[in-house]
Amino acid sequence: MAIERTLSIIKPDATRRNLTGKINAKFEDAGLRIIAQKRIQLTEAQAGKFYEVHKERPFYGELCEFMASAPVVVQVLEGENAIAKNREVMGATNPADAAPGTVRAEFAESVGENSVHGSDAPETAAEEIAFYFSGLELVG
Ligand code: CDP
Ligand code: MG
Repeated sequence: MAIERTLSIIKPDATRRNLTGKINAKFEDAGLRIIAQKRIQLTEAQAGKFYEVHKERPFYGELCEFMASAPVVVQVLEGENAIAKNREVMGATNPADAAPGTVRAEFAESVGENSVHGSDAPETAAEEIAFYFSGLELVG
């Protein structure tokens, strides 16, 4: 297994409920290291650019509005098999389908307001990391 990096976002529903530490404890307990991190407030236009791949989906407008509704914590997680491991810790998109103990099972409020984002493949991970961070900000 290779050491990978993946983009993680703690979404507005979670920052609003002060859950950043509890969520990051799950990532760290799974062996993922937070090698870059910042708390930012996205505009709807910035959220729209980040989620451009979903622009034809019916939930796109609501998703962009939600992502701009409160601060988010954007971060880079590093570790063995980090992309898949992060998604395993996150749980399924819909919290009703998420396995017990996952972030979304414990914390997500709905399929839209589901507490965390995680990259889904090596190519998207590289693109998404570059969307938020410069190389100088990755301090493994
Ligand atoms: O985040 P994940 O990769 O698990 O799911 P996605 O299919 O890439 O969708 C991106 C995000 O859009 C989700 O995390 C939800 O916040 C939102 N979404 C939604 O609001 N309604 C859906 N039916 C599916 C996704
Ligand atoms: Mg996705």
